[in-house]
Amino acid sequence: MDRLLVKGPTKLEGTVEISCSKNAYLPILAGVLLTMEPVVLVDLPKLRDVKTMNKLLAELGVVITYEGNKTTYDSSNITSCEATYELVKTMRASILVLGPLLARFQKATVSLPGGCAIGARPVDIHLRNFERMGVEIELDSGNVVAKTAGLEGHELNLSFASVGATENLMLGAVLAKGTTIIKNAAREPEIIDLANFLTTLGAKVSGEGTNEITIDGVEKLHGGEYRAIGDRIEAATYVIAGLITKSEIEVTNFIPEHLGAVFSILEGMGAKIERGENGVRVFPSTLTGATIDTAPYPGFPTDVQAQMMTLLGVVSSSSVLTEHIFENRFMHVPELNRMGAKIALNGSVAMLEGKCSYKAAPVMCTDLRASAALVLAALVAEGETEIRRIYHLDRGYEHLEKKLSALGANIKRSRE
Ligand code: EPZ
Repeated sequence: MDRLLVKGPTKLEGTVEISCSKNAYLPILAGVLLTMEPVVLVDLPKLRDVKTMNKLLAELGVVITYEGNKTTYDSSNITSCEATYELVKTMRASILVLGPLLARFQKATVSLPGGCAIGARPVDIHLRNFERMGVEIELDSGNVVAKTAGLEGHELNLSFASVGATENLMLGAVLAKGTTIIKNAAREPEIIDLANFLTTLGAKVSGEGTNEITIDGVEKLHGGEYRAIGDRIEAATYVIAGLITKSEIEVTNFIPEHLGAVFSILEGMGAKIERGENGVRVFPSTLTGATIDTAPYPGFPTDVQAQMMTLLGVVSSSSVLTEHIFENRFMHVPELNRMGAKIALNGSVAMLEGKCSYKAAPVMCTDLRASAALVLAALVAEGETEIRRIYHLDRGYEHLEKKLSALGANIKRSRE
């Protein structure tokens, strides 16, 4: 397995270009199944999760061709409607093929995604609401076996503003008979991007970005070309890298208002952030602590919680951070404490004293964003930090060591 060796403390400088969003592209990739005509996706990030989704699509019969920064998907000859455990177990977003397969083929067998390190992550909201759209669902030896005479538009009310459930239901509703209204829908920018993609293919979607999305089903969708938004979570990670190393860097190719809650917390801590059209410039800043509660968009994103915790470890006063979305998303805490952070946990609440100085130590990645938190600590830690099991990082950060080295970090990847 690969590991990263990071020598600190580091000063960064220059500009980092953010890649297209993993969490926007994963539902869009599932969406290529909705049409017989070719779909071209531009600048897909080279991430493990994208590779996994491509493998799953190819298993279903999608023909994928690569040409420079464009990838063409041909779903005119789907040969299977079954997403096997082998693939689903490595990436729970595979469940997103359920909606498109039901919409186009009226049947699907998708292995139940197991939980993952950060929580049980059930899919009950997906399944209950597909049943409301006329789907019969059975759970058979770990598989969701679903069939329908044809998806019917329906008024749906999500018990929680689940991102994945909203996306899955949108992917089904675009070809359903009649109108679907999704109430208590997730409002994340990735939902808006999915709606924009589906509209490009001829779908009739409105209300995306609000908590009520209306979709008028159409007979069929045509092909098209699409490029997803910049990855706001990757962008937040680099903004925090700039702040924790007290550097001046530019973070480009993303939409700053997609990080509104993150920037208002950081600016409240004293961060100097200059916002532009297509990115931000971060300046050396003296930072105090904060009180943070993760929440669905437009609240503070749970996907930036771990990275923020690394920063809160070194600021001049104490902080309280409460994780409201996932039940077990503090696995970075013991590792950060081994590097010198002073974090106390009480259920979903983390209390940080601040004023720590990180020391290099061998640490282990446990999940994608926890891994990013460890890299941030390693950038400022005294000495060489060895970060193991970085396959977690490769799921969501394209060319991480290349981008950080270009900013001046001393970071190398090597075989464990
Ligand atoms: C998406 O996961 C993201 N993944 C996650 O990013 C992100 O953390 C999450 O949204 C919240 O913003 C992708 O977009 C591929 P949810 P998702 O459904 O769709 C519960 C990353 O780091 N829930 O909004 O799985 C669930 O258990 C990843 O890039 C149910 O109870 O998130 C969780 O506690 C990690 N039943 C909460 O809702 C359901 O049917 C949020 O889940 C569905 C969800």
